[in-house]
Amino acid sequence: MKKMLQIALPKGRLGEKVYKMFEAAGFSCPEVLDDTRKLIFENEEAGVRYFWVKPSDVAIYVERGAADLGVAGKDILLEYEPEVFELLDLNVGKCRMAVAGPKGFRDNTENTLRVATKFTNIANTYYRSLGRDIDIIHLNGSIELAPILGLSDVIVDIVETGTTLLENDLEPFETIVPISARLIANRSSYQFKNEEINAVLKGLKAQTEALK
Ligand code: PRP
Repeated sequence: MKKMLQIALPKGRLGEKVYKMFEAAGFSCPEVLDDTRKLIFENEEAGVRYFWVKPSDVAIYVERGAADLGVAGKDILLEYEPEVFELLDLNVGKCRMAVAGPKGFRDNTENTLRVATKFTNIANTYYRSLGRDIDIIHLNGSIELAPILGLSDVIVDIVETGTTLLENDLEPFETIVPISARLIANRSSYQFKNEEINAVLKGLKAQTEALK
């Protein structure tokens, strides 16, 4: 008997785009895109139950088995290092993790560098690899404000179009890592629902090939 797959989608524009890829891959559930406050949608025939989750929470649902599959940004996977299988780069939600700061900023290596970020693990790992001494300032959003107000020297943050930096007189210095959305699987689901998961994986692979 075919086993039902529980799939956590990241709420928002990226999630809608990703859902359309699942749909094109043969796992449709049209109500998902209805403008309602409902969070769970099921298509028994296709063997899928989707739910909308805050993007940064998807990996938690998948790691703990509340979802068999999910879609999470590489930024979240690098930051929290959840114990999940990363099955596929979906080639959407592309951006990069970068160091940025005030235009013309020069790093004086005699001082500890003050770094504001939401991604403390990524920032720590990056600067450790450079052997650079830093002071991390953890913020939850509007990171760009930190160097403007003198709270930090630089930021480590996501840059997509670069508009936020530009409009705040900041510039990107270095790219730490390119980011995109990834299909992730719960480790035991991958064993027990292997056939079903591989069917989704195959369908999505065809979709991502088309995006390349
Ligand atoms: C992200 C990031 C930047 C912005 C970059 O913020 O933190 O602020 O997007 O995009 P851009 O290069 O296209 O301008 P997000 O909108 O996710 O909100 P946040 O402030 O809560 O992180």
